[in-house]
Parts: sequence; C-alpha cells; structure tokens
Amino acid sequence: MLKHTRNSDPELYRMVEGDLNRQIHNIEMIASESTVPLEVLELNGSVFTNKSLEGYPGGRYQAGSEFADQMETLACQRAKELYGAEHVNMQTYSGTTANYSVYASVLDIGDKILAMDLDQGGHLSHGSPANWTSKMYNHVFYGCDKETGEIDYEAMEEIAHREKPKLIICGASSYPRLIDYERIGKIAADVGAYSMCDMAHISGLVAAKVIPSPVPYMDFVSTSTSKTLCSTRGGIVMCKEKYAKMLDRGTFPGAIGSVQLHTMAAKCWSLKYASTPEFREIMVKVVKNAQHLAKAMQARDYTVISGGTDNHLIVVDLRNKGVKGKQMQIALDKAGITVNKQMIPYDPEKPWITSGLRIGTTAITQRGLGEQEIDEIVDIMDAVVKNPEDEANLKECRARSEALIANFPLYPAGAFED
Ligand SMILES: Cc1ncc(COP(=O)(O)O)c(C=O)c1O
Repeated sequence: MLKHTRNSDPELYRMVEGDLNRQIHNIEMIASESTVPLEVLELNGSVFTNKSLEGYPGGRYQAGSEFADQMETLACQRAKELYGAEHVNMQTYSGTTANYSVYASVLDIGDKILAMDLDQGGHLSHGSPANWTSKMYNHVFYGCDKETGEIDYEAMEEIAHREKPKLIICGASSYPRLIDYERIGKIAADVGAYSMCDMAHISGLVAAKVIPSPVPYMDFVSTSTSKTLCSTRGGIVMCKEKYAKMLDRGTFPGAIGSVQLHTMAAKCWSLKYASTPEFREIMVKVVKNAQHLAKAMQARDYTVISGGTDNHLIVVDLRNKGVKGKQMQIALDKAGITVNKQMIPYDPEKPWITSGLRIGTTAITQRGLGEQEIDEIVDIMDAVVKNPEDEANLKECRARSEALIANFPLYPAGAFED
C-alpha cells in the first residue's frame, strides 16, 4: 500500500496504515460512512488530479480538456439516467457545498429558508446558527411530532404559509423515516418557494430504488456521494431543466473553483456501479439490517425514535438506560463499535452531550454482516451500556467485536500488497 509514500514519508504512511488497521478491526456503524470500492480509491489517486480546469465541457477556461470533457459528460449522463434527473451538475466538492451551490443559484442575501432544525435531524448547512449560512439568510425551521418522531407536515405547512420562504429544504442527517416529497413539493409550490431535497444520506438507497426518490417532486436535489452511495467524498446536484443555467452558474463561478476531476472520476465509476444488481442487493440488505437492528434494540427495551426505520439508520433515545450519547460514543469506541452521539428530537441535553445515538448499517452490510451478527452486536452494545465505565468490561467487549468482524474482510485479501 502507498509504496511511494511509504519510502518518502514513513511518518505519514504510519498514520494511513494505522487508520486502515482501525477500519479492519472495528465495527463501523456511523450512519454516514461506507467503504469505498477499490476502483474509487484508484480513481481518487489518478492523474486527473494534475489537470486544472474551470467551466463546463465545451466551455472551459483552460486548454487540454478533451478527456476531462468526455469524463464529465459521461458522469452527468450516468447520474441523469440513474436518478431520472433532467439536469445534473457533478462539480460540487461535497454534500455541504452541493447545498451551497443551490443557495448561490436561487437566493439573495436576506432571503428566507424553511428547513428541518438541526436538533430534529437536519444538517448544519441547512441554517444552523453555527454555520455561515445563518449570517447570510433568514432561517425558519420545522421539526418532528413529539409523539410519533416523524416530520410534522401540518406544522411545516402552517409555517410555510405564514413565513413565505423562498426555499424549502427537506432531507436530513438523522431521520429514519420516508419523507413525503410530493406533499413538501406541493407546499413549496403553494407558497411560491423553490423546493430542495438534500438526500445526502439516502442517495444510494434511492439509486437502488429501495426507497422512493425525491427527484420527480423537487426543483433541486443535492447529495453527498460518500454515504449510502458508497463513493468518494464528493457531491452532486440535480435540478429541473428550467433551472439548469441557474444551477451551473451558481455552482461555478458562484460557489466553487476548479473541478476536482479525480473525485469526479470516482463519482462517475460509482454511478455505473450503483445501477448494478450487486449494488441493489447490498442496499436491500442495508435496510433489512437496519430494521432488524431496530427490533433487536427494542427487544432489550431501548427506545428507537419513530419506532423503527425505513432506511439505513436508527436513532436511539438512551434516557431510560441512564447513560448519555457522548458517554456511549466513547465507551462503544473502546469496545470496538464506532457510532456517533446524536441529538434526539426535543433533546434536553446539549449537542456535545446528547441523549441519543445514531447507528447505521451501510458499512457493516457492505462487509457482509447480517441479522445473526447484528444480534451479537446488540448483545455487545447492551453489555457496554450496562457497564460503560468498567475498563475490563470494555476490553472483553472489544475482544468480542474483533472476533466478530474478523470473519468479514474490509477489502479482499492482498488488495494493498504491492
Ligand atoms: C443531510 C446532510 N447533508 C449534507 C451533509 C454533508 O455532507 P458532506 O460531508 O459530504 O459535506 C451531511 C453529512 O452528514 C448530511 O447528513
């Protein structure tokens, strides 16, 4: 692995090697993570890195764009076909900058955005006070029903009619249920707002047609490519044809600089892979595993927000167990299970403590884990929750986690031998 770096910078090499070992020996359950195929690693390191280009195929600001033009055109075509989108922009660098592209395309300073609140499951880039967009735009927020844990569409509609936002955003970081895109699209149309779905978390499930797509109902759809799409750390934005020029101008020169051709090539490969039966089979299992995980947790008296899941993640309210999200994130990490603390809707705790955990099944499903292994994971988790400060307990749990995951290689044997 990294045979050149290994010789020229052993200090840095050891860090990469260290993380590879961490990934091999840990059970990865952060809902936004996946393991990229070897082709994605290969293309990320390809010579496209050397090429500096601005603008779009056929209208670049620099020479030497022949092959880059072919690749970007192919990537756009693949995304259009995969998602049934009218127009695609492949240039944005991540899910966050994909959202910034849309803002740069349709909003002026001071415009109003209606989005899901961060503590209800939304994302920082949807207008959290901690994000720069909160200084540029006015935000109003919707959330979830306290009883059901599902989006309160009636309240959203009422806020939309009262506040008359210019943009309504749906899509979330931590929401386990299907979203009624048709209803949100109609609310936006009724109040004269643009509609946008940030499907960062679920774009792999949507590509595989395992859950419904927002594309037919939204003016704009943004996504990150590194979550369930299982690709490089990048972004994609799609829109209706009538907004194509606005989106392309908003993206470049509006929001980004030169094209990252190497990551675009990796995205291009993944868009092809995401249309295969093999990818679909993985995505079907991701959801099945998440639903099994929810049931297994509930069987041990864990409160699963919204009562279950329709996608790749569950959100667990830990309050009846007498532990906090941060405490469990640390203890589970020591026990070889990687998850993240999570605000639950109406969380009484601060964001850096939290009452909950978000747990995802994408990465473990890619490695081949199924329901039987999830039962063992839940058993380990429960042992950690019961005794989170006991180092001997955590060590014993870690041995169980490592023994379990050892049967499921991260990459095929010999993948990094050179
Ligand atoms: C809904 C949503 N949008 C955007 C992002 C950011 O994506 P990226 O990390 O690719 O910038 C996330 C990340 O978790 C997310 O959950």
